[in-house]
Amino acid sequence: MTFQHYPEVAKLGAAHLFTPDLEKSLWFFRDVIGLEVTAQTETKVYLRAAMEREHHSLVLEAGDRARLDHVSWRVKRPEDLEGFHTLLTENGNEVAVEAPNREDGYGKSLRLQMPSGHKFRLYYDVDKPGVAEADRSVLLNQRYKSWNRGIGVRRIDHVNLWTTENPEAQHDWLTQNLGFKLREFIQTPGGRVGGWMSVTPLVHDVAVMQAGPHETTPARMHHLAFWLDNAADVLRAADICVEAGIIPDQGPGKHGVSQAFFLYVRDPGSGHRVEIFSNGYLIFDPDWEPVEWGMDDIATALTMWGPTDYVPHTDDNIMNTTTEA
Ligand SMILES: [Fe+2]
Repeated sequence: MTFQHYPEVAKLGAAHLFTPDLEKSLWFFRDVIGLEVTAQTETKVYLRAAMEREHHSLVLEAGDRARLDHVSWRVKRPEDLEGFHTLLTENGNEVAVEAPNREDGYGKSLRLQMPSGHKFRLYYDVDKPGVAEADRSVLLNQRYKSWNRGIGVRRIDHVNLWTTENPEAQHDWLTQNLGFKLREFIQTPGGRVGGWMSVTPLVHDVAVMQAGPHETTPARMHHLAFWLDNAADVLRAADICVEAGIIPDQGPGKHGVSQAFFLYVRDPGSGHRVEIFSNGYLIFDPDWEPVEWGMDDIATALTMWGPTDYVPHTDDNIMNTTTEA
């Protein structure tokens, strides 16, 4: 008997970012954030976090301006790639099949695009490189030594996308095409301005928010988040950033949405915003009803406590409006 099932996304795999200053971005993500380099070419660096087994969770590529190239999602089963190809095509999406790429460690993958213009890639097969003896953890369930370098984030957590299109339409697309469940959202009289969605028990693997009225880039990344085990680790991360000459953008503080303890910092090489993230809650209920935050609650939804304004940057190297997809 053949068991029929809908294809499923298992998890967030990686973000591929362009940076106009690869050397400085590499310093930030390797020496400050504490990611480990797994592969490198003249124009690209592949990195992953201490707990991660896959080839990479971040790609930095040299380019003339900072932008998000695409986000990669791992599907649950090898056959789900074919299932998604059929489903996405039937739903009217253009899907391109990409042959296995040994440089980035991926087997066959699919390329597609959200209506907002954000680009995605789906994969199942991926290389899982080992770790050099000197960097290997004594823990058999962990790749690299704890606190090997810098902040030493544990794993990628989520990506937050900004759109100038209707956010609700993007949320619906994510549900109908990739099976993401809406967990929390912010509703205003003018419409839904943000939604937090997941395929895992995390409150969000992806968020899609309304870009501000000043925004000229239609598909932008607001931030990429990496996980730490607890709030004290995030406070330690703030110290490490300041000692490295990087003044946090916002935080530490607590979001109402997802109940995250957070710190925002920016890569001085690109301006890409990174969230150092901990705490939060998990969802196990199969019948979870999306939590609606209205106008009366919006301040709490965004920042339950902690600084509410971004720290203005004067450093010319900090570019803050160019992470277009
Ligand atoms: Fe976030």
